[in-house]
Amino acid sequence: MSIISKDIQKAVQLLSNEELVAIPTETVYGLAGNIFSEKAIKSIFSTKKRPFFNPLIVHIPSVEVLDNIVNHIPNKAKLLADAFWPGSMTLVLKKKSKIPDLITAGKDTVAVRIPNHPLTLNLLENLKFPLAAPSANPFGSISPTKPEHVARYFKNDIEMVLDGGACTNGIESTIIGFEDDEPIIYRLGALALEEIEAVIGKITVKNKKEHKPDAPGMLARHYAPSTRTFLVDDVASEVKKHPNKKVGVLVFYQSLNNDALTEIILSKKKSLQEAATNLYSSLHELDLQNLDIIIAERFPNNDLGKSINDRLQRATF
Ligand code: TXA
Ligand code: MG
Repeated sequence: MSIISKDIQKAVQLLSNEELVAIPTETVYGLAGNIFSEKAIKSIFSTKKRPFFNPLIVHIPSVEVLDNIVNHIPNKAKLLADAFWPGSMTLVLKKKSKIPDLITAGKDTVAVRIPNHPLTLNLLENLKFPLAAPSANPFGSISPTKPEHVARYFKNDIEMVLDGGACTNGIESTIIGFEDDEPIIYRLGALALEEIEAVIGKITVKNKKEHKPDAPGMLARHYAPSTRTFLVDDVASEVKKHPNKKVGVLVFYQSLNNDALTEIILSKKKSLQEAATNLYSSLHELDLQNLDIIIAERFPNNDLGKSINDRLQRATF
C-alpha cells in the first residue's frame, strides 16, 4: 500500500461522502465525483451548469478496472490503451449496464481514461469507485490548468481543490470512439493525431462543429474567454484593424514588438508542447486584463498545432 498524504485522505473522505473534489490531471483540472452516486453526479452538472445531454468521462486507476466498466474492447482499443495509458487519451466504448445513464447521457457507450498525474492516480487507487470528472469550469468557459483557476470559478461551491500544481499538458485529452470496431477521433486533444496513427494507422477525424455532436465538447462555442477573441494568420495586420482598442495578443513564438499591446508568447523556443501547456493559462491571464479584444495567432496545422487551433477556433465565437 502506498503512503497516503493528508490531502489524499481528505479527498477520499469527501468523495466517499458523495461530495465533489477538484482533481489535477496532466491535461486540465477535473471536477470529480463518485460515478455511482446520483447526488454527486447531479451536483457536477449543477455546479458546472452543464446540460445533462453532455456525458462525462470516467477516470480509473488501471487497465484492470476497464473490464468492470465496458463490455467490449476492440483490438485497436487494446493497442491504444497499452501505448498511451496512463495518459491524455479517452476511449469511448460500449458500457456495462451498471454504469449509470446520468454519466453517459443515456448513450450505450462510456468515455474512460487513466489520467497521468501521480496525486490523482494515488487518489483513484485509494477509492472503491471510479471518478466522473469533466473539466472544472462552468460550461462553455476556459478549462482550468492551475488550482487558482478552479478556485476562481468555484471557491464557494466545492469543499476542496486537490493541489497538484500546473497541468503539464494543458489541453484536454484526445477522445477516440469506435464505429464497427474502427477508431474515430471525436475530439482532438493533448495526444497528437500523429502519435495515435503511429500505433494503429490512419484514423478518421470527426472533430466537426455540429449542433448535435457526438462529443458535445465540440459545440461551436466552447473553451471561450469572455473577451471577444479573433484567430488569424497575420496578427500584426489584424491589430491595425482595431485602432483605439485595448488589444491583447497571443502569439506562438515571435514577439510583435509593439508596446501598445498586451502580448503573451506561448513558446519562445517554438515548442508546440510548451505552447499547449501555456494556452489556457494565457487565455485566463488575458481575460483578466479588461481588454477590448484578444487576437490569437493561428498555429501550424500539424501535431499539437492542430489541437491548439481547434481550441482557439472554439474560443472565437
Ligand atoms: O482531459 C480531459 O479529458 C479532462 C480531464 C479532467 O480528464 N476532462 C474533460 O471532460 O475534458 P469534459 O467533460 O470537459 O469533456 C468530456 C467530453 C465531452 O465532450 C463529452 O461529450 C465527451 O467527452 N464524451 C463523454 N462521454 C461520451 C460518449 N459516450 N460518447 C461520445 N463523447 C463522449
Ligand atoms: Mg470541458
